[in-house]
Amino acid sequence: MSREITSIKQIQEEACRELEAAADIETIKTLSVRYLGRKGFVTLFLRNVSNLPASERPTAGKQANKLKNFLAQEFENRIEELQEKAAQEERDENIDVTLPGRKGDKGSLHPITIIGNEICDIFLRIGFDIAEGPEIETDYYNFEALNIPKDHPARDMQDTFYTANNFVLRTHTSPMQARVMEKVKPPVKIIAPGKVYRCDSDITHTPMFHQVEGLVVDENISFADLKGVLTVFIGQIFDRDTKMRFRPSFFPFTEPSAEVDISCVMCGGKGCRVCSNTGWIEILGSGMVHPAVFENAGYDSKKYSGFAFGMGIERIAMLKYGIDDIRKFFENDIRFIGQF
Ligand code: DAH
Repeated sequence: MSREITSIKQIQEEACRELEAAADIETIKTLSVRYLGRKGFVTLFLRNVSNLPASERPTAGKQANKLKNFLAQEFENRIEELQEKAAQEERDENIDVTLPGRKGDKGSLHPITIIGNEICDIFLRIGFDIAEGPEIETDYYNFEALNIPKDHPARDMQDTFYTANNFVLRTHTSPMQARVMEKVKPPVKIIAPGKVYRCDSDITHTPMFHQVEGLVVDENISFADLKGVLTVFIGQIFDRDTKMRFRPSFFPFTEPSAEVDISCVMCGGKGCRVCSNTGWIEILGSGMVHPAVFENAGYDSKKYSGFAFGMGIERIAMLKYGIDDIRKFFENDIRFIGQF
């Protein structure tokens, strides 16, 4: 500023004009020194107030101070504005618009749904029907109809969640045996898939899991029929070379009862950590339907015979996919459930 500026008004006009024209932070800093610095116009004006006629001093002083604060604020605002603009420009430059867009997550079936469907498909192909029933079950269907009386120690095998009035969260899908038999006359050939609940929680047990129950009833059904059906099933859900064996066991609703083992899917039977070096892995429970279960459902146990079996879907999925912790199925981590 070459001209001599004498009035506050003049200083203000000049400062505003110059600020308006300033295009970068450096220029604004220079302006700040020029107006507000030790020898700046505003500073000099203030210093000179004492030389003014006494009557003008108060107003001039007040106005100069006001301008000083006003300009300080304006310079600061403008510097911030320019800094933000520069930062934005830098951000814009860093966006590579030639990169391909990010794909959204596409939904897919849960691994338990996939294996559940696979199991059901195999049984549907060999003539089974699907029966579904309630998850909140009566004590009668969950236990008594299946030959598990109140106070019987066998109830300990399946500790559960009791609700009021003799209802339980079903501990297995076996109650569907009784529900189906009460409704239809033989022949019966059903599977019952669904959720079940138990007081259990560790790396191989979750409080809720899934089962598929099977029931076949007719005249002259034998253990050989059970073996035939399970051989087909295991050959298809695992592979044709998978070996199978029956191991004597106990279930209140079958007599005789057997657990079914398959040759270890990890080591092929040689022995490894997964099969505890036995070469075998248990995959389901089975047996010939107990006469008491038939009688409870109103079937003539002299005329009819049948077999039943029950398996856990999670267990089969863990073996098929080589998963070592059942809880992974229920954590809903997309990195896990998106892999199937
Ligand atoms: N309900 C049994 C359980 O959850 C599994 C089972 C075993 C079902 C033998 C059956 C069977 O139908 O015959 O442990």
